[in-house]
Amino acid sequence: MKIKSGTKLYKFAKTVIPGGTTLFSKRSELHLPKKWPAYFTKAKDIYVWDLNGNKYLDMFCAVGTSILGYSNNNIIKSVYKNIEKGNLTTLNCTEEVLLAKKIIKHHSWASMAKFTRGGGEANALAVRIARACTKNKNVAFCGYHGWHDWYLSANINSKKNLDQHLMSGLNFDGIPKNLKNTSFPFPYNNLKYLSKLINEKKIGIIKMEVMRNVLPKDNFLQKVRNICNKKKIILIFDECTSGYRENMGGTHLKFGVEPDIAIFGKALGSGFALNPIIGRRQIMKKAENTFISSTFWGERIGYTAALSSIKEFKRLNAFNKVKKNGKLIKSIWLDLSKKYKVPIQIMGTDAIPSFLFKKNHSQRKTFLTQEMLKNKILATNMIYITIFHDKSYIKKYIQVLDKVFFDISRKKIKNILKSQICFKPMNRIN
Ligand SMILES: Cc1ncc(COP(=O)(O)O)c(C=O)c1O
Repeated sequence: MKIKSGTKLYKFAKTVIPGGTTLFSKRSELHLPKKWPAYFTKAKDIYVWDLNGNKYLDMFCAVGTSILGYSNNNIIKSVYKNIEKGNLTTLNCTEEVLLAKKIIKHHSWASMAKFTRGGGEANALAVRIARACTKNKNVAFCGYHGWHDWYLSANINSKKNLDQHLMSGLNFDGIPKNLKNTSFPFPYNNLKYLSKLINEKKIGIIKMEVMRNVLPKDNFLQKVRNICNKKKIILIFDECTSGYRENMGGTHLKFGVEPDIAIFGKALGSGFALNPIIGRRQIMKKAENTFISSTFWGERIGYTAALSSIKEFKRLNAFNKVKKNGKLIKSIWLDLSKKYKVPIQIMGTDAIPSFLFKKNHSQRKTFLTQEMLKNKILATNMIYITIFHDKSYIKKYIQVLDKVFFDISRKKIKNILKSQICFKPMNRIN
């Protein structure tokens, strides 16, 4: 098959892969329909090359799977070395045990760990263990927690239940109807709502992201912990996206609130698949009373990459650099918004900042992506910050963004937009 361009390959991909890609966030329609380059040949630091040899500055960085940029030399070397020696054998790899010990050391409240290769399955595993520990099997949740039945079943009651946590009006096709009334969403920072849910729905498990776009208010996390203690509810923090991004471990360490189970992912493997689930001993031991097992969870690559990443995070002072770069980006957005009187709302942590245009968001966001792409930059309104996103690397981004805000303030975007408006991505308000 002769591949002429990423846009053509993506069109074909939709005929052989439902939805065109395996990850929703990589669909071209979410960025620049029919124009997004879609496929890469190689990547290094914060640059990606498309199928036609174009080199892009990447401000989205693989949906946050590496804060060290692409292809960190030391991580790659350690992975290569172990691949050469054997990736998956009859016997286990020692790195699994070493990583368990390391991650537990970062979290003094936890004593045991298990590992998966995806965030959704890590969440399903955590719910299974928690359900094995409690007589109240119902889950109250806040945030996005993957594609599994326990989570999507929340929409059987009302198709609006996942509107604020994942996306609007999601179908629940393929989810058994008898899972109705087993998972219930709650809004972030709304203790009153959560308390009512606990009283009415026999909640035995609370699963939540520690924070996504807004800060916890009025000691929210500690109050959730207190309710869990009082009602004997198992508290799970899903830190698939937030963990190992701005500090060594979960962001809950920063807020001083300890869960019973925590889940990590993305940033820890620096682009290699790995999702640890850690927890208190008496809870994690219950995994032995149920069946949780998978062939490729024994693969050596992810463990090796994570162990090596932890060393690199320290050596490169990565967390401080990420936070500094995120602050810089937020200040640039704010300055441009004021300079051109284009109102925006800035959200997110310094490690994953984002903004919304207060008027015509989707149209303006599409225009931004269009102009960035013209200048060989992959960018939307959200940035997964890496250690490379500092002033020296992002000069061009700042220049193009200045022009984008200028155009938005002076011109009819409808007339200069050469693409169909992008589709709505996930809604994540917590
Ligand atoms: C908080 C959270 N949980 C779970 C997931 C799902 O992880 P994965 O895409 O690896 O299945 C994500 C992914 O974005 C996430 O941000």
